[in-house]
Amino acid sequence: MSDQHSHQSFETRAIHAGNTADPLTGAVVPPIYQVSTYKQDGVGGLRGGYEYSRSANPTRTALEENLAALEGGRRGLAFASGLAAEDCLLRTLLAPGDHVVIPNDAYGGTFRLFAKVVERWGVDFSVANTSDIESVRDAVNDRTKLIWVETPSNPLLGITDIEAVAGVARQAGVKLVVDNTFASPYLQQPLALGADVVVHSLTKYMGGHSDVVGGALVTADEALGEELAYHQNAMGAVAGPFDSWIVLRGIKTLAVRMDRHSENAAKIVEMLTQHPKVTQVLYPGLPEHPGHEVAAKQMRSFGGMISFRVEGGEEAAVEVCNRAQLFTLGESLGGVESLIEHPGRMTHASVAGSALEVPADLVRLSVGIENVEDLLADLRQALG
Ligand SMILES: Cc1ncc(COP(=O)(O)O)c(C=O)c1O
Repeated sequence: MSDQHSHQSFETRAIHAGNTADPLTGAVVPPIYQVSTYKQDGVGGLRGGYEYSRSANPTRTALEENLAALEGGRRGLAFASGLAAEDCLLRTLLAPGDHVVIPNDAYGGTFRLFAKVVERWGVDFSVANTSDIESVRDAVNDRTKLIWVETPSNPLLGITDIEAVAGVARQAGVKLVVDNTFASPYLQQPLALGADVVVHSLTKYMGGHSDVVGGALVTADEALGEELAYHQNAMGAVAGPFDSWIVLRGIKTLAVRMDRHSENAAKIVEMLTQHPKVTQVLYPGLPEHPGHEVAAKQMRSFGGMISFRVEGGEEAAVEVCNRAQLFTLGESLGGVESLIEHPGRMTHASVAGSALEVPADLVRLSVGIENVEDLLADLRQALG
């Protein structure tokens, strides 16, 4: 984060960091620099420091500065998707013979990247319950290079104590990576708690309107940021100018959206916990959630993601998803519109048969910012 923004509150940084007025016209919003190359004033004479848009593009730079400021990091990097960001990170940090610790609950695509892609390069992994610090400690060995944490986790809403895992990582001399997609930097700041790198699917709360796919890495450290920027350019899966612009636009309302996501989710949780067809509600805001105290300590509020289990098993869960009307049946999350899905058959089909398999009677909600009474009415009719 540049010193210019370090004293500002989150909401102010969300709107201003990276968003400097255009030097040519004074436009208050950074233009979409839809351009691949830049005129040079003589060979090597770069006017604005830009030479080719894979290496850097001004609209992407604006987003990257904003991301670094929001996470309190030294360097932000924007990619074509969350998985592109993860891929760049893993190929930068890992080499054949290395070992990683991954959580027993994570986005299915992240697990697939480790199990089907990274493992083929000769990098093996251990699955740990990252909510349990002893499980993490036990999983680390002398070849371990990084510990991966997702909190709250997708789709079981497990909570990991970031500060505690950072302590284990520091002791073992390994990097701690935190996927902050479910919380967003408004609710949780992993770098301040000791993480080395934050990962985002910008597709979710950061973009916030289900209209863009993107990803990000933010580092605590300048040198690692430089190394990742080198690999970002070498591998090439960068965020395009328009996608960067639309995420930057979405981020301006992140704070107000997240407040409403959390408020609506809390009311929906209250209804679900009393509903006779619901056998379990997974939400870190519930006092009985095993990670409640840690979540209360490290998160501003508990967010807009809820999972719950229904009486009647898989078919009953699928039926609830099919009957919902205002909650759109679809993958992804974090948009202003509410979504419902069946993780076992949809977002997490790729973890079937693994240690990350999810319960068949599970339904996941991404609670939007519509009027909560309308959302409650729809869920009541969907539950039957
Ligand atoms: C927690 C989490 N991390 C990473 C990703 C991957 O991001 P993307 O779909 O933008 O590649 C997702 C996507 O659903 C996710 O939910």
